[in-house]
Amino acid sequence: MKETEIDWASLPFGYVKTDYNVRCTYKDGKWGDIEVSDSEYVPIHIAATCLHYGQESFEGLKAFRGKDGKIRIFRPDENAKRFIRSAEGIKMQPLPEEKFIEMARKVVELNKRFIPPYGTGASLYIRPLEIGLSPRVGVKPADEYMVIMLVTPVGPYFKEGFKPTKVCLSRDYDRVAPKGTGSIKVGGNYAASLVAGEKAHDMGYSVMLYLDPKEKKYLDECGAANFFGVRDNTYITPASESILPSITNKSLTQIAEDLGIKVERRAIKEEELGTFEEAGACGTAAVISPICRIDDLDTGKVYEFGEQGQAGPVSTKLYEHLRGIQNGEVEDIHGWCMEVGE
Ligand code: PLP
Ligand code: COI
Repeated sequence: MKETEIDWASLPFGYVKTDYNVRCTYKDGKWGDIEVSDSEYVPIHIAATCLHYGQESFEGLKAFRGKDGKIRIFRPDENAKRFIRSAEGIKMQPLPEEKFIEMARKVVELNKRFIPPYGTGASLYIRPLEIGLSPRVGVKPADEYMVIMLVTPVGPYFKEGFKPTKVCLSRDYDRVAPKGTGSIKVGGNYAASLVAGEKAHDMGYSVMLYLDPKEKKYLDECGAANFFGVRDNTYITPASESILPSITNKSLTQIAEDLGIKVERRAIKEEELGTFEEAGACGTAAVISPICRIDDLDTGKVYEFGEQGQAGPVSTKLYEHLRGIQNGEVEDIHGWCMEVGE
């Protein structure tokens, strides 16, 4: 597709073919050079561990075109570190942080014409993934791996964008086990969430809010985003071993502190939902998606937040500050953005 044919402002969160992806293979005990490819396909062995035993992990980060014309990638070092933890968690070879950053820089530079213009609300989503390549029939890790980074221009993850959305919760579904793989970003977690996610969609909700898989008492996370609530000028977000430590949430927590908003990271009982003034889902794809209502499908309880149809003041302040840093309009005091030219 030509970039001139893209309607940037109404892009969904989906795949658009771009010019290039970059790849790096681990073979004979070492990572090779970064290769550039214009193919959308990978040839793999029919017995590769990624196909049979789920040796696959991925990441998600974004590049933005600022008001000043500069291109910025948001916190790639954090994604690189989490990519290492994910690889280690399923016995794959971790990609060194420097190589991750070099690949991210390269794939963005090669696909510059697909970075949405400033002001459209869209961004360039970078999707790194790692797969086990070696053929195995017994359940064992591979000894050859490939990392691929592809990019695609995206709009909002939840169709409402920054407008409030409805969420449901149920004790009938878990996406991860209490001591399982919830804190790393591996494909299997997402396969395990598809039934619940589709059920939520079919019932008119944007996502399922999971409770902790051990006791089903505490809030965990919202599909592919972390959860937060706001009460008395305090940003409250779950501490749990079974959620993915979100880089967006970590950033919002820091921004909240910078803006004089108190922060609590702790276990949150479901009943506490009734006390929140605002609620939201946050993540790279979702940014902040305000939540106006949460329905407990098991008990019929309904929790409502803020004025219907509007994001609350704390969520709005945090959203604008974060997007401002990403666009180069708010001073990046923590040095989060990596510039990749113009
Ligand atoms: N939780 C899950 C399960 C996710 O898949 C994601 C997306 O990466 C997040 C939370 C948000 O994390 P981040 O802000 O690092 O994108
Ligand atoms: C992200 O927020 O980057 C995600 O990975 C969410 C989802 C598309 C899996």
